[in-house]
Amino acid sequence: MSPKEVAAFVLEPVLGEGGYVPPTKFFLKSLRRICDEHGILLVYDEVQSGVGRTGQMYASEHYGVYPDVYCTAKGLASGMPLGAIVAKESVMTWGRGTHGSTYGGNPVACAASLATLKIVEGLLPHVRQNGEIVIGKLRKLQERFPVIGNVRGFGYMIGIEFNNPKTKAAIHDYMEDLEILSFKKGVLLLGCGASTIRLAPPLIVGQHEFDIMLGTLEECMVELNKKYRY
Ligand SMILES: Cc1ncc(COP(=O)(O)O)c(C=O)c1O
Repeated sequence: MSPKEVAAFVLEPVLGEGGYVPPTKFFLKSLRRICDEHGILLVYDEVQSGVGRTGQMYASEHYGVYPDVYCTAKGLASGMPLGAIVAKESVMTWGRGTHGSTYGGNPVACAASLATLKIVEGLLPHVRQNGEIVIGKLRKLQERFPVIGNVRGFGYMIGIEFNNPKTKAAIHDYMEDLEILSFKKGVLLLGCGASTIRLAPPLIVGQHEFDIMLGTLEECMVELNKKYRY
């Protein structure tokens, strides 16, 4: 296939459902370069990683590698239904009324979004600082529980990958058991990818809530390690 046949590359600047995987800066820079060389649009899906989730308003800011177009939704209006496509002026060359939808630009959702963005802006340092502390605590936990294969992420978008300590293979059943066990203990943990637990709590939580989660996670791992003998 010739690059002339490629309209756009679409990717998440931090992979969400696929396992909470941040790419390297080199990867994104290389993509940006290839797109620029061949007139291909670079599109980021920031639906999960955007609106403060990673401790920057958008995950692209961690890398300083920016797209031509990005999509944003989820936290954008604090639960009111709103999604948006944001693009460079050079891309937004459509005529008026070319793109519309029944609920597009809903005034109540837009007002909620403006209020949300103001609040999230103020929460960014809190998310960055607390996210780093939690990643530190998880890495300490990893020293005691070799079943934790990897801890990664930014801000409040943190992935804890579980692997067989001997073979390093993903352990999907372990992750599913962990979800159910922690749910029974009152902590909702959600898996992604092959065997990663994602942490994506509300941006307002602090160390107190994280410590409750970490205590439950540890309890669950102790119980599961009896079953799996990791
Ligand atoms: C990265 C990503 N993109 C897109 C979507 C879907 O977004 P929407 O429901 O706003 O279409 C989701 C999750 O629902 C997501 O995690």
